[in-house]
Amino acid sequence: MPRVIAVTGATGFIGRMLVSQLRGAGWSVRLLVRPGSLSSLPSPQTSEIVTGSLEDPVALEQLVDGVYAVIHCAGAVRGSTFEDFSRVNIDGVKQLVRAALNQPNSPRFLSLSSLAAREPQLSHYASSKSMGEQVLADESGDMEWVALRPPAVYGPGDREMLPLFQWMGRGIAPILGEPLARLSLLYVEDLTSAILSWLESGGCRSGVYEITDTQNDGYSWEEVTERVSALLSRRLIRVPLGEPLLRVLAGINLLGARILGYAPMLTPGKVREIRHPDWVGSNRELTAAIGWIPKFSLEDGLHVTMGWGRPDSTN
Ligand SMILES: NC(=O)c1ccc[n+]([C@@H]2O[C@H](COP(=O)([O-])OP(=O)(O)OC[C@H]3O[C@@H](n4cnc5c(N)ncnc54)[C@H](OP(=O)(O)O)[C@@H]3O)[C@@H](O)[C@H]2O)c1
Repeated sequence: MPRVIAVTGATGFIGRMLVSQLRGAGWSVRLLVRPGSLSSLPSPQTSEIVTGSLEDPVALEQLVDGVYAVIHCAGAVRGSTFEDFSRVNIDGVKQLVRAALNQPNSPRFLSLSSLAAREPQLSHYASSKSMGEQVLADESGDMEWVALRPPAVYGPGDREMLPLFQWMGRGIAPILGEPLARLSLLYVEDLTSAILSWLESGGCRSGVYEITDTQNDGYSWEEVTERVSALLSRRLIRVPLGEPLLRVLAGINLLGARILGYAPMLTPGKVREIRHPDWVGSNRELTAAIGWIPKFSLEDGLHVTMGWGRPDSTN
């Protein structure tokens, strides 16, 4: 089989890093890019490009034609209604799987799900990711498939976690969760290296796999603050943002999004996600399946992302 990998979502935060790593490792890539996003593609001349979207079956057939594997990074992470998410995170998976199954030799298939899929009742996003996994399991026949469940991913180009760290860089630490709440984090390069390991592993049991960084038991918000404080060698002012305040901000944002027509990130569903007490993932099954282990501690990842501290002095 030729070593061509079909990638969706290459203009996104995670997809950009993935494509750069795939190329660096010698894989040829074929990218699905929406017409309006072609200009935001880094180094388009070094990739084969199929112009189209997940809603376009002809483009999807071209995308997966003869490829060794499909890596599905496209996803809807912002939106007001269930349809905003389901169109991409459920129907998009279905269309792409069907195109892959039409190939005489089914490619291997990896889809980026989310740890949020573990708690589908919390939000439209979480339920769409959970249903996307189910579609993959139901529709994939004999094709090898993996749904990866990252926790909050951060790194250069990220738009979700970065503002939080930027506030910390200014000396203010927003505390979004309860004191006992714990969450896993993942530096983007660890996520993309896991995907490369999956490719190079040659195959593993189809299924859903969680993935996290080197901190097996995750972090409390206080621990994240303490680590950033140590990296910056300064005290941070803690600003707890309680659930009532977050709910009010989310309600205003949702209303604004509906009036002005933008896709909101902070919604009442996102607040329920943020306030959930347990977002700790585990690498156990993924490591057993493909031998991958994470390399980046939070200090290492923040050093690369924010230029803070020196990883060799903090490990
Ligand atoms: N970032 C995280 O912390 C995190 C954590 C867990 C899971 N994930 C999952 O990882 C995936 C990527 O996340 P991200 O942070 O990289 O998101 P992102 O920066 O918002 O990128 C989303 C990508 O999906 C593409 N896309 C959206 N709708 C599409 C459609 N209908 N047809 C074709 N392409 C479409 C976008 O293309 P355009 O440029 O044309 O808009 C973009 O390339 C998502 O599935 C997300 O659920 C992310």
